[in-house]
Amino acid sequence: MLTRDPSSTGGVKKGPFLAPDVAVVGAGPIGLAIAWRCAARGLRVVVHDPDPGSGASHVAAGMLAPVAEAYFGEQELTRLLTESAARWPAFAEELAEASGADLGYRTEGTLLVGLTADDLAEARRLWAYQQGLGLPVTPSRPSELRDREPALAPRVRGGAVAATDHQVDPRRLVPALRAAATAAGVTLLPTLVERLSDVDAGVTVVAAGCGAAALTGMPVRPVKGQVLRLRAPGAGAPCFRHVIRGYADGEHVYLVPRDSGEVVVGATVEERTDPTVTAGAVLRLLRAAVDLVPELAEYDLVETLAGMRPGTPDNAPILGPLPGRADVLAATGHHRHGIVLTPLTADLIADLIVTGTPDPLLAPFAPDRFAAEEDSHGRDR
Ligand code: GLY
Repeated sequence: MLTRDPSSTGGVKKGPFLAPDVAVVGAGPIGLAIAWRCAARGLRVVVHDPDPGSGASHVAAGMLAPVAEAYFGEQELTRLLTESAARWPAFAEELAEASGADLGYRTEGTLLVGLTADDLAEARRLWAYQQGLGLPVTPSRPSELRDREPALAPRVRGGAVAATDHQVDPRRLVPALRAAATAAGVTLLPTLVERLSDVDAGVTVVAAGCGAAALTGMPVRPVKGQVLRLRAPGAGAPCFRHVIRGYADGEHVYLVPRDSGEVVVGATVEERTDPTVTAGAVLRLLRAAVDLVPELAEYDLVETLAGMRPGTPDNAPILGPLPGRADVLAATGHHRHGIVLTPLTADLIADLIVTGTPDPLLAPFAPDRFAAEEDSHGRDR
């Protein structure tokens, strides 16, 4: 895949820097992990981002949820999520060691719950589909759920356990990846890359989230998500340990507890691009959260935020060379799954750069599946 002698010199055009083998555009988890993995394979790597970690990962809850987020009609994506989630334990251990940081990686698992009979009926359809794929979803009676989490509302009608759906704190992950990448020799530059023609490197990797659309012409669109952060009173830990994902009077909500006392409550999914936090969304999220875990009404509301997920027409990421550009790789469009897909994306893209041979796992996610849309965009590269 490297198209020139890696020992040659050059630079980001018009700049004083030595040419890298790999330039990564975007210092979110995906871009930083790719940079770290490439540096570990002996490549010289530069990452361009004026504001690292300020995109979707700053808002994300950090659920590693290949089971709970296995949705109807997304089997290939589910396979990718499952494979990446399986790499998380080793990835987390290696990253914690390389960075000296605590990632907030937790393995208590996830409770899936339905508040009302209607909620449970809706949830059970999805759980049956997930079980049909062989995913570990174990139905549980309300009493069993409350044995695990006594803070659950007595009204909860039933649920299931997804024991292998874990979590990590994205706001700890990004600094850890920066530290590990830097220690491995990666150079982080605050450059705002507005055109791919401004970057000079053996291979350019576009890991710019929603910004990838303007850079590559790929059909990546912002999908708004509003998220709240609560804090347990008195600097204590939250009153529950599992991630809780619930259906509550028709609302879908997730509750992610952190050791710090924080609880992340998410999220809306809106086909909008404005960064406004709306009263209605806060009301719905809080009502659903308190319906499932009443004690949350006593918590401080410490943050309300809207972020943009990088969505694609089929909800799956875009991974691999742009059509007709073997030297430009996309690693974007991770939509709801950027954190769980970080280890696998990094490994597959780094291996592709080194070997020139795409892993078969990449095939369904190649950029050329959107060739028609891309042609109609006709962006400058
Ligand atoms: N994966 C959770 C979300 O996108 O809200």
